[in-house]
Amino acid sequence: MKKGTILSGMRPTGKMHLGHLHGALLNWKHLQEQYRCFYFIADWHALTSEYAHPDIIRESRYDIIIDWISVGLDPEVSTFFIQSEIKEHAELYLIFSMFTPLPWLERNPTYKEQLTELSQKNVYTYGFLGYPVLQAADILMYKANGVPVGEDQAPHVELTREIARRFNHLYSDVFPVPEVLLTPTSKILGMDRRKMSKSYGNAIFLTDTDEEIDAKVSQMITDPQRARKTDPGDPDICNVFSFHEIYSRPESVDTIRNDCRAAGIGCVECKRLMAAGLKQGLEPIRAKRRELESDIGKVKDIMEEGNKKSRTIARNTMEEVRDAVKI
Ligand code: TRP
Ligand code: SF4
Repeated sequence: MKKGTILSGMRPTGKMHLGHLHGALLNWKHLQEQYRCFYFIADWHALTSEYAHPDIIRESRYDIIIDWISVGLDPEVSTFFIQSEIKEHAELYLIFSMFTPLPWLERNPTYKEQLTELSQKNVYTYGFLGYPVLQAADILMYKANGVPVGEDQAPHVELTREIARRFNHLYSDVFPVPEVLLTPTSKILGMDRRKMSKSYGNAIFLTDTDEEIDAKVSQMITDPQRARKTDPGDPDICNVFSFHEIYSRPESVDTIRNDCRAAGIGCVECKRLMAAGLKQGLEPIRAKRRELESDIGKVKDIMEEGNKKSRTIARNTMEEVRDAVKI
């Protein structure tokens, strides 16, 4: 018996990298054993920032689904769907927009932050301000009890809770108030030690080849205090070591920690060992991808099946909603 409903989504703005894997997907995979899970591609959300260059959105749809299945999200267990295929989300978004006070949206920290960060893309739009209202529609449509997200998305889920309460108070008790399930931030950073992100050009993708991984690992910044091989290093502040902790065998991790501190291993050798573990760890994911890529028809079927299932639920919710608002 499953404990409740979980929903989460991602904007389709490119292929998945290790930041996604360790910051979200492995957690999603873990949750699918205990909860009824819905995972979806938020293509309308992607349009809020990519409206001028939307090609990437459609191009990355199948890439993302393939990545999800390759890392072990199971379409037999979890439901995948594409947001724009379930038109009911747009209707619920519209209804929510009627009673969502503007100040709730204007004080949203993510909104304020993105406005400065993405200024070159011009996100000073109606749609971008309404981003969390659409997100509330995604979540509440499936009456989710929990939403696994990173810290940056927590304010959006808080807003969803407010919207659910306001709806229930104004009309009738239709929606559960969902919990934020905060995903611990992954220790894995990009090659330059900033947060891993495609736009920073510092990401290792799930699809990278052995050669690409070797090249990227060799560029990684290590303990910046360690100038020479004879200087002792500090593995606790070294990004390469964080990778070892995930991708190397526990006994090697201990050896590397000690050797690094005692200046008994050089960073070049240490990286070589790490890259070997990383390639080995990613190989099953890449193998699964190759299998799926050779049968795109099956991937499409999975998508359609998930859309259908989600649409049925969305239709039921919308009937309740229309009844409640007397429309
Ligand atoms: N805003 C989320 C992000 O950028 C994506 C998203 C859209 C989402 N709707 C959602 C996440 C609903 C969780 C639940 O990552
Ligand atoms: Fe990092 Fe390894 Fe170099 Fe130590 S030896 S600083 S853990 S790369």
